[in-house]
Amino acid sequence: MSGAPVLPAVPLQQRLAPSLARDWPRLPVAEARGTELITTDGRRYLDFCSGMATVNAGHNHPRVTAAARQQLERFIHGPLGVVFSEPLAKLAEELPRVMPGEKDMFFFSCSGSEAVEGAIKLARHVTGRPGLIAFTGGFHGRTLGAVSITTSKPKYRARYEPLLGGVYFAPFAYCYRCPFGKERLSCGLDCLEAVRRILGRVVHPSEVAAMILEPIQGEGGYVVPPREFITGLREICDHHDILLVFDEIQTGFGRTGDWFASQLFGVVPDVLAVAKAIASGFPLSAVCAHRDLMGKWTPGAHGTTFGGNPVAAAAAVATLEVMHREGLPARARRLGQQALARFRDLAGRAERLGDVRGEGLMIGLEFVQPGPDRRSDPDFCRRVRERCLERGVLLYPCGFDDHVIRFIPPLTVSEEHLEEGIAVLEEAVDGCR
Ligand SMILES: Cc1ncc(COP(=O)(O)O)c(C=O)c1O
Repeated sequence: MSGAPVLPAVPLQQRLAPSLARDWPRLPVAEARGTELITTDGRRYLDFCSGMATVNAGHNHPRVTAAARQQLERFIHGPLGVVFSEPLAKLAEELPRVMPGEKDMFFFSCSGSEAVEGAIKLARHVTGRPGLIAFTGGFHGRTLGAVSITTSKPKYRARYEPLLGGVYFAPFAYCYRCPFGKERLSCGLDCLEAVRRILGRVVHPSEVAAMILEPIQGEGGYVVPPREFITGLREICDHHDILLVFDEIQTGFGRTGDWFASQLFGVVPDVLAVAKAIASGFPLSAVCAHRDLMGKWTPGAHGTTFGGNPVAAAAAVATLEVMHREGLPARARRLGQQALARFRDLAGRAERLGDVRGEGLMIGLEFVQPGPDRRSDPDFCRRVRERCLERGVLLYPCGFDDHVIRFIPPLTVSEEHLEEGIAVLEEAVDGCR
């Protein structure tokens, strides 16, 4: 008998830091395939949060698992720089084909937060400027740099202050809750004016390295801004030589009906941070830019041990192949239009469903209390999600009060599963009081 200690059979929840163990609903998953999760007691759930937007190509796509398995047998780890791997070389060749503008140089890392850290460091390093403009309601991750530009909920920052200096927050174009009390289309884009005011009165533009935002906010409530907001930010950045950095960690890889939300808005960011769906659940992320910019990042100025791991890279190459082969961005657009139409009908009869918005298969349903004030209704949102879960559909919340449902099935979701998910959600909204 080996002398290895046997772990007492305490529930995993008791061994995890409460900072994440108390999340919801803690399903004990034994297997996953496509849109389905099978729990250890044999129940089937439809995963309509896609492993938090990581499995756009579905859980355990056979082509992805085969590619990862093959690389696993060859060699697992570098580290990058000391050794190069074939899958990573292939990935670096494939990524520019789907990215906005000419992104032909990459810094690979493991998590979304790390990619955001990398983007901040790159921007400061190459411009020699300290300032960053971020946007209210944005979410960029949990590490100290990423959380310094995050304001989607105060709890993410509480007790960690002081955070990174030189960060200035501008209002995001959350039109359903316009920070200036205006209505969409007749507003004159006061939110762009607010950015100009910051640059005119608060911080000198020559002190600002980058403007960093999610082109469609995720954790902050699936907030889709008007196109003019995004194009206007591009113009302001061009005018002042400020880098425009898009965090497409959640919006990337087909989710919004194009490869990236950048393309949807017709705007090319200078720097792109990507992660999540890039490798179908293997930890991989990247800071992406043109070589004219990233080439100025001097040797040793940034580094990683696990970034660009060969197994994750093999999974990423296979994920991209699947996305091309199955036309997943276009599929997301088509299925997203169907789902949006259904949810808009639903909003017409459900007074607590205040707003439905989205692009592709990134759809948010915002719940509010009855009355003209649009007061958030997190309680109703929770009851809807619990009812869906009882009927086997997993949906996760977002928004400043967790009062928005994110509807993000895998882009490979079958028409039958999509119909099942929509019908369960409709029934839950209609049935909850
Ligand atoms: C837009 C965005 N940026 C950054 C992150 C952080 O990524 P990670 O949790 O992999 O560090 C997330 C995660 O949800 C995200 O949605």
